[in-house]
Order: sequence, then structure tokens, then C-alpha cells
Amino acid sequence: MPAPIPANPKTIGMLITWAQRALETSGNTNAAQEALWLLAYALGKQHHELVSRRDQPVSGEDLARAESVVSRRMAREPLQYILGTQEFCGLDFQVNSAVLIPRPETELLVQAVVREGGFAEGAVLVDVGTGSGCVAVTLATILSGTRIFALDCSGDALTVARGNAERHGVSDNITWKKGDLFSALHECNLVGAVDAVVSNPPYIAEAVWADLQPEVRDFEPRAALVAGQQGTEFHERLLDDARLFLVPGGLLVMELGQGQAPLVRQAAERAGGYTGLQTVKDEVGIERVMIARRAG
Ligand SMILES: C[S@@+](CC[C@H](N)C(=O)[O-])C[C@H]1O[C@@H](n2cnc3c(N)ncnc32)[C@H](O)[C@@H]1O
Repeated sequence: MPAPIPANPKTIGMLITWAQRALETSGNTNAAQEALWLLAYALGKQHHELVSRRDQPVSGEDLARAESVVSRRMAREPLQYILGTQEFCGLDFQVNSAVLIPRPETELLVQAVVREGGFAEGAVLVDVGTGSGCVAVTLATILSGTRIFALDCSGDALTVARGNAERHGVSDNITWKKGDLFSALHECNLVGAVDAVVSNPPYIAEAVWADLQPEVRDFEPRAALVAGQQGTEFHERLLDDARLFLVPGGLLVMELGQGQAPLVRQAAERAGGYTGLQTVKDEVGIERVMIARRAG
């Protein structure tokens, strides 16, 4: 649905009012703030410049760019894909529709690896399903002496992740591999040599996917989200396959969806070969991260 441009949009102030009203009509509950973010991006200005230069005239090109971004947002495209960026653990990550937008709860995954790790110089970490690279790149910036292997089945996602590693100066610490879960690791001689496996896997149940908000369902990659009937298919595969690569005592740290902890705990017990199972709750009390150690 295109956003109708005002009949006589002379100034930045008029454009702000128009963008806010257009977003409100599409049900956007944060229209005032998003209007400023989108117009700052479209006009190549800082937010405070928009506000302080309300009387400044706008060009036809500015109007066209403003109309384009506001229309995209009205169609429920996520703000982060339009602006091309999302903050994660205090770092800026480039994102596009090839990758999941990094979520705040995934910061708990990074924190758990850092807290539990105690990694020696040269320790090997594997990020399964790296997406934008937010987990691998953040870990590389914190744990500078480690070697990180970042895996994904999507070549387009790996391109985005590589760009993010370059932006943050950690390209030399990360090896990128394309393939199904751990398959590409076999050629790297890493059997029994990995100190930690970390993953935010797809974990939405098939039946739930259709009811997700349009921003997620219609724009984020389905393969980054959906994992079988119960949403725990990838956790089960990770539990089965990580054992082969982990050193005795090595860490497996996985993000969980709401209510999945009991299922994944049972899967870990069925799989065998793990000790010290524990979970970390997020700020609303959901068991969000599972930590296990390879039995030694
Ligand atoms: C939930 S996203 C996580 C992305 C990123 N790590 C994050 O936390 O924002 C899951 C990622 O797993 C990847 N993926 C899905 N199925 C896969 C498979 N069979 N093998 C490897 N990666 C897979 C998707 O492409 C996606 O990038």
C-alpha cells in the first residue's frame, strides 16, 4: 500500500507529520519515533537535525526516498531491514532479508559462553547457524585468542556475516563454512577438538509460524525460524551431532524457545553423553538458554 504524499509538502516539519500519520494508519504503535528514524535515514540526516530544521524545504528526491521507506514500513517490512542495521551486544550489525534480525535475548547466549568458558589461548568455538554473524563476531571481539568456526546453510547469510566481521575487525579469527549443521566441519579435522558449540537454532513450531506477526512471517527467512512440529528438531540434532566434535568437558550452549526447556532436557537425556545440564532464564522468567557439558 503506497503512502500518499501530502499535496504540498514544503518542509521537513510537514514531512514528519505526514510520515507519522501514514505509519499510524497502518497500525504502527511507535509511529512518532519510527517516522523520525525513517526520515533521518531517507534524508541522510541525524534525528536532531530533522527536529531542529523543521522549516527547511525538502527536495523532490528527498520526498521520493521518504515515500519509499515509509511505504515499505507500512507494508510491515521490519524497520531493521529498511535501515539495514541492528545493534547487538553494543555492536552494530548490518542486516538484510537473508538473515534473522539479531534479538536481545540472544545476548544471553553470548553471555553464557563467556561466563562458562574459561577458554585457553587457541580454544576452538563453533557457532552453528550464524546468520548475521552476531554471535560469532561478538564472541570474537570478546574472546580475542580463540578460533571461531561459523556455520550456516545459507550462502547469502554468510556473505552478510563476513561483512559484519570485517566491520568489527575480527575477520582473521573466524572461518566461515557453508553446509547442513556440522557437515562442513568434517573437512577441518575438528572431531573431538571443539571447546564450545554455541547455537541459536531455528525453534518455531510449524503450526505457530502462520500466526507470527507479519514483520517476522512475511520478511524474515523461514529457514532461520521454523524447526519441525515442536520447534525442537534442531536442538535434537545439535545434541546428537555436537558430541562428536566437543572435547570432554566441552560446552554446548543453545538458545531455547518459550516452554521448550523440558523437551530439550529430555532430548539431552535421550541423546546421552552430557553432564551439568542447566538453563538460564531471561528477564521475563523464560528458560532461554540451555548449557550442557560433554561428559569426559
Ligand atoms: C535463528 S537463526 C540465528 C541467526 C543468528 N545466529 C542469530 O542469533 O541472530 C538460525 C540460522 O540457522 C541457519 N540454518 C537453518 N537451518 C540450517 C541447517 N540445516 N544447517 C545450518 N544452518 C542452518 C539459518 O540460515 C539461520 O541463519
